[in-house]
Amino acid sequence: MHHKITIEPFRIKAVEQIKLSTREARQQYLRQAAYNPFLLKSEQVIIDLLTDSGTSAMSAAQWSALMRGDESYAGAKSWERLEAVIKDLTGFPYILPTHQGRAAEHLLYTRLGGPGKIFISNTHFDTTRANIEYSGAQAIDIPIAEARRPDHIHPFKGNIDTLKLGQLIEQHGAQSIGAVILTVTNNSGGGQPVSMANAREVSRICRQHGVRFILDACRIAENAYFIKHREPGYEDKSYRAIAQEMFRLADGCIMSAKKDGLVNIGGFLALNELELALQCRTVLIITEGYATYGGLSGRDMEAMAVGLEEVFDPDYLHYRIASTAYLGNKLYELGVPIVRPVGGHAVYVDAQACYPHIPPAQYPGQALACNLYIEGGIRCCEIGSVMFGKYDESGKLIPAPMELVRLAIPRRVYTQSHIDYVIATFAELMQHREAARGLRITYEPPFLRHFTARFEPL
Ligand code: F0G
Repeated sequence: MHHKITIEPFRIKAVEQIKLSTREARQQYLRQAAYNPFLLKSEQVIIDLLTDSGTSAMSAAQWSALMRGDESYAGAKSWERLEAVIKDLTGFPYILPTHQGRAAEHLLYTRLGGPGKIFISNTHFDTTRANIEYSGAQAIDIPIAEARRPDHIHPFKGNIDTLKLGQLIEQHGAQSIGAVILTVTNNSGGGQPVSMANAREVSRICRQHGVRFILDACRIAENAYFIKHREPGYEDKSYRAIAQEMFRLADGCIMSAKKDGLVNIGGFLALNELELALQCRTVLIITEGYATYGGLSGRDMEAMAVGLEEVFDPDYLHYRIASTAYLGNKLYELGVPIVRPVGGHAVYVDAQACYPHIPPAQYPGQALACNLYIEGGIRCCEIGSVMFGKYDESGKLIPAPMELVRLAIPRRVYTQSHIDYVIATFAELMQHREAARGLRITYEPPFLRHFTARFEPL
């Protein structure tokens, strides 16, 4: 069915200009941004790989659906359409719209959390962990051991350690477990997929102990692609049917539609328990908006209803996963150390292996992110000791377990020549990797420092 060359299965109807820049200009921009790519202006960036969240290009069908938006405060037609799509996809009867994923997390985890409660996940995404900890509860990550070895090949590196899961539930007692959360695909673990067998085992363990099982489903279509192509027994199932099967294993889900919903804003919480849904709905109305729009406009809901269907198109998903793998495999061929196998939405570069001469306390990931910007105007995000580093009592850095840089690919936005440009930029960087220098922090806020910290090159 698929030819040797995977083409973008779309043509371009509207374009957004990219401002090209010189190396000298970029050196100045980066200095002004205190060597933190988050502080750059987007127009100073040539290829923006900061995130795949909310950065998708919408289809003509989505743009035209916007005009159908029913902006009624209550009971809008657009809500009916969106609710029907989500119910059909997830099978959950109670749907709460929110403006993005973390708003749904806030509704659910403040209900289920609180002091003494424990949440267990393959890996909690940052906002998930923050919402859980903010409630006073504890978040524990138990990915399989293979997940922590960047170069180790495993088809489902996003899996949770089910043996540890059973032990943790028994150790803490089912009553104290707020929920078990499977993040599909596992973003923080490299965009790695979770197998259906693993989800089924999680479901079985949770049912056996009477513990709630929640899916963080923001990249579930990409996860379904990996299941179809890697897990025996799923070759002939559609991507959508695979996603539906996974939803059926859980008691509810949270979805940031800014990823596989193919929209720039939107999300939802879906549950199968009426009582819990009613409690969350009360908070929804207090904090987000009325129950039939959450934090969204009618047109946002229309775009999301269309996006949630489009994302399961086989040609789209094949192009999506193949184009991420194309970038990863080309980088690997160049000798760039990356997390393998390549995940769904991003390529994760092992910056420590790339710059072995830069110690964690001089932030090799930040150095690589800065060099990518200066060399090619490419913006990406450090996921290492800038993001997760802590200090001990003497003020010494406790480094993150890995020093990674994430090249996240916006959906339907960049063409192959953009990606070839990223590859060529890496080829250039690899030539003088020994000359790369680390950085030191000159300012940092007490929380989430990676967003606003300021740096100086050493
Ligand atoms: N869960 C996962 C797995 C995510 O990756 C994100 C967001 C969220 C929840 C929160 O959703 O942003 O709509 O509030 N991830 C983005 C990223 C920010 O860049 O990976 P949100």
